[in-house]
Amino acid sequence: MERTLSIIKPDAVNRNITGKVNAMIEETGLKIVAQKLIRLSSKQAEEFYAEHKGKTFFNNLVEFMTSAPVVVQVLQGENAVSVYRTKMGATNPEVAEEGTIRKTFALSIDKNTVHGSDSLESAKREVSFFFNELEICD
Ligand code: CMP
Repeated sequence: MERTLSIIKPDAVNRNITGKVNAMIEETGLKIVAQKLIRLSSKQAEEFYAEHKGKTFFNNLVEFMTSAPVVVQVLQGENAVSVYRTKMGATNPEVAEEGTIRKTFALSIDKNTVHGSDSLESAKREVSFFFNELEICD
């Protein structure tokens, strides 16, 4: 059993499609065991995405992620990290496969609808970045 951190990004919140994204998450069999709508501060976004600091897209990424609320959520199930990565599809929606969340909803590589942890190690850090144990209902 694994847990992974998902973020439904501002482009999806702005288009009022968080329920549609959640329906696709639930199709995988993963359980949403924690979820909240929050507005990230620049400091939080910079810290969360610290591994990308210095990359060309970093400032845009922080600006976008703080431009509107996001839904942060914990998904739980067998192989949750890879199951969710597969369902999200490629970072760039132009090359994402049919049936993935990004192919279905993403607008661009920046406005790509969802984030998911890329490893179990990242998942542990990212889940505890937003949630304490009491907020996770499994
Ligand atoms: P995410 O999974 O949230 O992790 C970092 C984000 O940076 C990524 O999704 C993209 O939305 C965004 N990004 C913009 N340009 C790039 C790029 N060239 N490579 C990777 N991520 C990018």
